[in-house]
Amino acid sequence: MATPPTVLIADDDRSIRTVLTQALGRSGYQVRATGSAAMLWRWVEEGEGDLVITDVVMPDDNGLDLLPRIKRQRPELRVIVMSAQSTLMTAVKAAQRGAFEYLPKPFDLAELLAVVARALAVPSPMTDPSIEPRDGEEKLPLIGRSQAMQEIYRTIARLTTTDLTVMVNGESGTGKELVARALHDYGRRRAGPFVAINMAAIPRELIESELFGHERGSFTGAHNRSQGRFEQAAAGTLFLDEIGDMPPEAQTRLLRVLQEGEFTSVGGRQPIRANVRIVAATHRDLRQAIRAGQFREDLFYRLNVVPIRLPPLRERAEDIAVLARHFLDRARESGLPAKTLDQGAVDGLRKYRWPGNVRELENLMRRLAALTPQEVITAEVIQGELAEPMPDRGEEAAGGTKDLGQAVERHIRHMLAGSSDGIPTRDIYDQVIAEVERPLIRMTLAATRGNQIKAAEMLGLNRNTLRKKIKDLEIPVVRGIG
Ligand SMILES: Nc1ncnc2c1ncn2[C@@H]1O[C@H](COP(=O)(O)OP(=O)(O)OP(=O)(O)O)[C@@H](O)[C@H]1O
Ligand SMILES: [Mg+2]
Repeated sequence: MATPPTVLIADDDRSIRTVLTQALGRSGYQVRATGSAAMLWRWVEEGEGDLVITDVVMPDDNGLDLLPRIKRQRPELRVIVMSAQSTLMTAVKAAQRGAFEYLPKPFDLAELLAVVARALAVPSPMTDPSIEPRDGEEKLPLIGRSQAMQEIYRTIARLTTTDLTVMVNGESGTGKELVARALHDYGRRRAGPFVAINMAAIPRELIESELFGHERGSFTGAHNRSQGRFEQAAAGTLFLDEIGDMPPEAQTRLLRVLQEGEFTSVGGRQPIRANVRIVAATHRDLRQAIRAGQFREDLFYRLNVVPIRLPPLRERAEDIAVLARHFLDRARESGLPAKTLDQGAVDGLRKYRWPGNVRELENLMRRLAALTPQEVITAEVIQGELAEPMPDRGEEAAGGTKDLGQAVERHIRHMLAGSSDGIPTRDIYDQVIAEVERPLIRMTLAATRGNQIKAAEMLGLNRNTLRKKIKDLEIPVVRGIG
């Protein structure tokens, strides 16, 4: 029998050293353990060991900083990094400096043993030192250290050395676009462009031309040749946002491009090589869309190579406080007054359901930074903000949201929620449009003191159209006083 592999352990925490030494010993490995990075380095230089398990922060040096040196000295030596400092940056650095695996602390012993076995079974992966991420921990793109986010950091980190297609799934406001950007910014195409296209925001008849470009005269209004996003994203990343809203014809065409690796512009004949890394995102359940015949199954499998599911904020309540403080800091950096949250406020935030996820939390923090008179935000302030339903009132009391879309969203949510209580929901479209039009026209008229000619000008409406709307919407016409 060959000699058992030797595992080198460096961790300044004695109890971790003991636990690991015992567990690895029981599994038949030879073990050498130290609390010092310098000692670990000496062993490495002397050619000791087949595998390293190292902590990051040690009194004399940093395991992550040691990693490139280890890899230069002993490229074949596999390294597992463990850290209690489990941020995206630690995970990414560990991956890019050639760590075989990164495990956030506290780790699961069985998982660690499995990783050790795996690491010793495969050849050491290559590293590319040219793609080191920029330093600056304070500029972390993704905040949160919940178990769920740790998993996501690890996946992102592993993907930095590949061009695999990624599908990001998650409710609205969970950070899908942020993940797509992180995949680009830390990946090997980061020197290239990041180009995003939102399928839900483009008229369906224009999607193909937006994606693949068009030739002059290929359709009415195509006065010039235009580059599509595929071409713009060459050597970079193409982010296909809201992929679940892609019309069927465009799905078919996209599938063909992904299969063939090349595309032609609308009206064009010359095939162009596709040179993009694709990241897709959707808040929809695509498997359900497939069953409903709205999404092509073959396209789904082409895109869903590496799925990343972003959990809703309510499933990672432990991230809420750190996110909230992060957004308050950002608000202060942008010139708003500094605010802090007391424990009661944090508790209140943690209890809320966050249907709008991180985006909703971000908006709330900005609003509080701008509008709360006192420096310390208390439970009462949070309660006042997050008090459920009370349509309209909550916003007004807080001084109004800046984002009309969100106000409308909230309103529609109430309408739809109402429908399950037996209140019939009908003609929603007309109802909502009227609800927006009515105050718009009423207030413009108020601003012009009832002068319909001026109001029509301000609104950019034809005078007769305005008159008809005033009548249809039964807006009282009051002539200005004074
Ligand atoms: N983990 C996070 N750390 C810091 N900021 C975050 C995080 N997740 C989301 N955000 C912020 O929340 C907002 C919403 O994120 P993003 O736009 O990526 O969400 P999304 O999932 O794409 O939403 P939608 O489905 O509505 O497009 C952004 O301002 C983003 O910066
Ligand atoms: Mg988005």
